[in-house]
Amino acid sequence: MRSHRLLSLLLLLPFVAGNSANSSVTGTTSSIVTATSSASSTSASASTSGTSSSTASTSTTSTTSTITSSSVISVSSSTSSGSAFTSIPSLATETGPLTVPLSEYSFTPWPTPSLAPDPPVYPATDPLYPPPVSADPQIVPDFGPAWAAARAKAQAFIANFTVWEKVNLTTGVNGRCVGNIPPVGDFPGLCLEDSPLGVRETDFVTAFPAGITTASTWNRALMRLRGLYMGQEFKGKGANIALGPMMNMGRVPQGGRNWEGFGADPFLSGETAHETVLGMQAGGVQATAKHYMNNEQEWKRTMESSNVDDRTEHEIYVQPFMRAVMGGVSSVMCSYNLINDTYACNNNKTLNDMMKREIGFQGFIQSDWGATMATLSAAVGLDVTMPGGTDSYFGEDLVEFVTNNTISMERLDDMATRVVTSWFFMHQDENYPPVSFNANDPLDPATNFHINVQSDHYKVVREIGAAGTVLLKNEGGVLPLDKPRTLVLVGSDAAPPTSGPNEYVDQGGDPSGILAMGWGSGTDNFTYLISPYEAIQARAREDQTSVFWNFNDWDLDAAGNDVIGMDVAIVFVNSDSGEGYITVDGNAGDRQNLTAWHQGDDLILAVAAQNNNTIVVTNSVGPLIIEPWVEHPNVTAVVWASLGGNEAGNAIMDILYGNWNPSGKLPYTIAKDITDYPAPLILGGTEADILSINYTEGLMIDYRWFDAMNITPRYEFGFGLSYTTFEFSDLTISKVASLDYAETDLINNWENGGASPIAEGSSTALWLHMPAYQVTFNVKNTGSVYGGEIPQLYLHHPASAMEPPSILKGFTNIELSPGETQRASITLSRYDVSIWDVVRQGWARPEGTIDFSVGASSRDFRLSGTIPQ
Ligand SMILES: *[C@@H]1O[C@H](CO)[C@@H](O)[C@H](O)[C@H]1NC(C)=O
Ligand SMILES: *[C@@H]1O[C@H](CO)[C@@H](O)[C@H](O)[C@H]1NC(C)=O
Ligand SMILES: *[C@@H]1O[C@H](CO)[C@@H](O)[C@H](O)[C@H]1NC(C)=O
Ligand SMILES: *[C@@H]1O[C@H](CO)[C@@H](O)[C@H](O)[C@H]1NC(C)=O
Ligand SMILES: *[C@@H]1O[C@H](CO)[C@@H](O)[C@H](O)[C@H]1NC(C)=O
Ligand SMILES: *[C@@H]1O[C@H](CO)[C@@H](O)[C@H](O)[C@H]1NC(C)=O
Ligand SMILES: *[C@@H]1O[C@H](CO)[C@@H](O)[C@H](O)[C@H]1NC(C)=O
Ligand SMILES: *[C@@H]1O[C@H](CO)[C@@H](O)[C@H](O)[C@H]1NC(C)=O
Ligand SMILES: *[C@@H]1O[C@H](CO)[C@@H](O)[C@H](O)[C@H]1NC(C)=O
Ligand SMILES: *[C@@H]1O[C@H](CO)[C@@H](O)[C@H](O)[C@H]1NC(C)=O
Ligand SMILES: *[C@@H]1O[C@H](CO)[C@@H](O)[C@H](O)[C@H]1NC(C)=O
Repeated sequence: MRSHRLLSLLLLLPFVAGNSANSSVTGTTSSIVTATSSASSTSASASTSGTSSSTASTSTTSTTSTITSSSVISVSSSTSSGSAFTSIPSLATETGPLTVPLSEYSFTPWPTPSLAPDPPVYPATDPLYPPPVSADPQIVPDFGPAWAAARAKAQAFIANFTVWEKVNLTTGVNGRCVGNIPPVGDFPGLCLEDSPLGVRETDFVTAFPAGITTASTWNRALMRLRGLYMGQEFKGKGANIALGPMMNMGRVPQGGRNWEGFGADPFLSGETAHETVLGMQAGGVQATAKHYMNNEQEWKRTMESSNVDDRTEHEIYVQPFMRAVMGGVSSVMCSYNLINDTYACNNNKTLNDMMKREIGFQGFIQSDWGATMATLSAAVGLDVTMPGGTDSYFGEDLVEFVTNNTISMERLDDMATRVVTSWFFMHQDENYPPVSFNANDPLDPATNFHINVQSDHYKVVREIGAAGTVLLKNEGGVLPLDKPRTLVLVGSDAAPPTSGPNEYVDQGGDPSGILAMGWGSGTDNFTYLISPYEAIQARAREDQTSVFWNFNDWDLDAAGNDVIGMDVAIVFVNSDSGEGYITVDGNAGDRQNLTAWHQGDDLILAVAAQNNNTIVVTNSVGPLIIEPWVEHPNVTAVVWASLGGNEAGNAIMDILYGNWNPSGKLPYTIAKDITDYPAPLILGGTEADILSINYTEGLMIDYRWFDAMNITPRYEFGFGLSYTTFEFSDLTISKVASLDYAETDLINNWENGGASPIAEGSSTALWLHMPAYQVTFNVKNTGSVYGGEIPQLYLHHPASAMEPPSILKGFTNIELSPGETQRASITLSRYDVSIWDVVRQGWARPEGTIDFSVGASSRDFRLSGTIPQ
């Protein structure tokens, strides 16, 4: 039965079993694609959303550019599909070809090469009931049956819908939420609401720690729990779709929205995305994986083309989105920017070919706010336009394009079906609460019902705040604090903001107190905000410590004088960034530099000159250059606290006093100099030009570059200290015995050097992602206090694979009492040890020996081994 079905699938798969894929490559591996992008005047009802780009062009600009896509491959005619990118003209304008060559892929439910559910590894999973979280996940949830059931219901549901009704399911309207799908027939409509860290534009919600802080925990259980609680809060408010998580890569250290995301490594980012999605959807809300993709800086985000080679795209930028889809994500949001001179929401390769074919995504793709540039985007994979309205290219335009058969009815059916499918998939047809707030008028008594959804979520906020804090320096064990006699807090970042927790709309202003989130649409309002000052005072009462403070950042003499003779001086500094529609202190979203704000470096130096126990606490959206003071002999400790949400002060206090033994690890590299980073922020460009951002560093982002170029960072990716110490020993690696899977042929093919086939869902197939190798080792707590360690696994590919020296492919977390030893496990899949083969357009194991290391950071390797053949 299984093998019979496999056979029929194999017929669809051109490249199974090591056939001569190279012979099918056309002679011209270099082809010319002409992209004409027309950004016509569209302010796209910008008023409905902060995510609208205020930089969107207001005049009609037309840019024609020619790019050479040297590694875009045409495959032979034996594959009827996935082919001929070379010959298909760009669809970037509405005056493009009249007959749109629609995808030949059916995009019907989940026809991956994975055939039958296999409960221990591949259980059929309902998104409301995901498998339990594990520090070493070995289960690949199979959402296929749930998608198929939902799709069948959706098809029946819209069967009698008119063209207009179907179109209305794809076109946003004004409403109470930041995005709204109107009611159509028996469909009640949908509320889409920001943000990735909590419910925006309403009250009585939790301000969760930011994405970057969550990634810094390297703790899947906390990632999942945060997702779950966020999902419950969105549902509690009646929002159907949460516009998060955000998973753009921390490629450019100044990138304004990096703090919303999960750092500078695709594996860490992917795992954080996966757990966040599983959690959010278990909470009932539809999650949105955004911004797909290559939106790595704010400057000119609607007028820049990120030019990325195929391998880098697959191995770095797609990975988090793939993991979100493997978590069952309902929706994907395409980004503002262009990719290879074609807008991301109009990009057949990234939307249809990569997201819907390779990854097998079954939900719907929505545009970022105002990011739709053409009606014909519908033909290349865009399903929903947001915020919609009359000038949105969908609506009436889409009706016309379908009526005159420029866009097929089948495609419109697919678009409408996908929207309704995600709704059934998430069981939102079953007593989902109505919208109880009004994002556009949060003070209107008629439409805001002030439902309190906070529950006891503050507990996990505080825990993630502590677990996401990274201890970088601790000379002579000055931390944790032990009932100091006197203690002084210096710097405004220790204090509550002077005019309340929500000083600025969307947090878009110069922080006057603790920085607990960045600015922009990726925010929510604080119901309350605990500063370090409040948390430390409360603790001081217990310890009977004398507390002093000076929150003035600008009077350096006073700061120096105030710390003389104190047992401990704690200096708080921060650095903020956000979304480009707000400029703060000259920072147009992206940071203009990597130094602490409010002359923080000078403040630290002024304090350290007068106090030999100066502890620095940072609340930063990303890396800072800390060379001016990090080696100062009086700077005894550095606590990297990032963005803790409304319990930020309590979490910092927990670290300082050892209520939580630090276990966080850096999700990016802290360099000694800004020029050490491989990818600069690209500024400049003119009003009308598309700015080119060439991802020339390829796979070498962040630590991968530092390793390859032999640049010593200040603190490397994955680094973080504890109040105890850990020893690693006794490493083993074994192949996980393959059960009797129908995909044995695919596994054999891969083991013999073959690439994964070209097929729908090929990148997310079970055989590729099920456990293949298990690495185990002992971890012992060799210190004197209870604590957690994050063992990390890095692969070292053979030189011929042209990978960076070390790439993260696994991590786990383990908590141990003093003297205790436990066996830790990190499981690898075939995907984890594969590289993307641009010629064969599949995942393959590189030839040669693949080594690996296990250790405590990307440069602190303790054990090593070799992946078995
Ligand atoms: C395909 O490429 C591989 C590796 O470059 C080579 O060993 C093999 O002979 C090639 N096959 C054909 C049919 O050209
Ligand atoms: C962008 O162009 C590069 C270089 O030609 C190519 O490798 C890559 O596949 C292209 N990506 C997309 C999404 O078109
Ligand atoms: C579709 O939406 C438009 C614009 O909101 C509205 O005027 C129209 O009545 C809707 N049509 C149907 C059939 O729902
Ligand atoms: C479609 O049919 C269903 C029942 O068959 C009915 O309840 C619904 O109102 C119809 N919808 C429209 C838009 O006609
Ligand atoms: C959120 O805070 C901003 C800035 O203080 C304020 O304008 C807005 O009304 C607040 N929103 C809610 C729902 O309280
Ligand atoms: C879009 O991508 C799909 C999937 O790879 C492909 O079948 C189709 O031919 C492409 N269409 C266009 C217009 O390029
Ligand atoms: C179909 O309608 C659209 C929108 O009115 C128009 O731009 C396009 O030229 C029409 N195509 C044909 C083949 O009539
Ligand atoms: C860096 O930017 C911050 C925030 O705008 C500013 O306060 C600081 O003075 C800048 N630092 C340098 C060295 O220019
Ligand atoms: C360190 O602090 C002491 C005061 O405790 C001060 O005398 C000394 O000069 C400081 N050292 C430096 C290098 O600033
Ligand atoms: C700071 O200096 C005092 C004496 O001036 C000394 O007792 C104390 O141990 C020093 N602290 C550190 C952390 O070096
Ligand atoms: C990016 O690459 C294109 C094509 O090679 C080139 O024209 C452009 O100048 C490059 N942009 C930058 C900022 O280097």
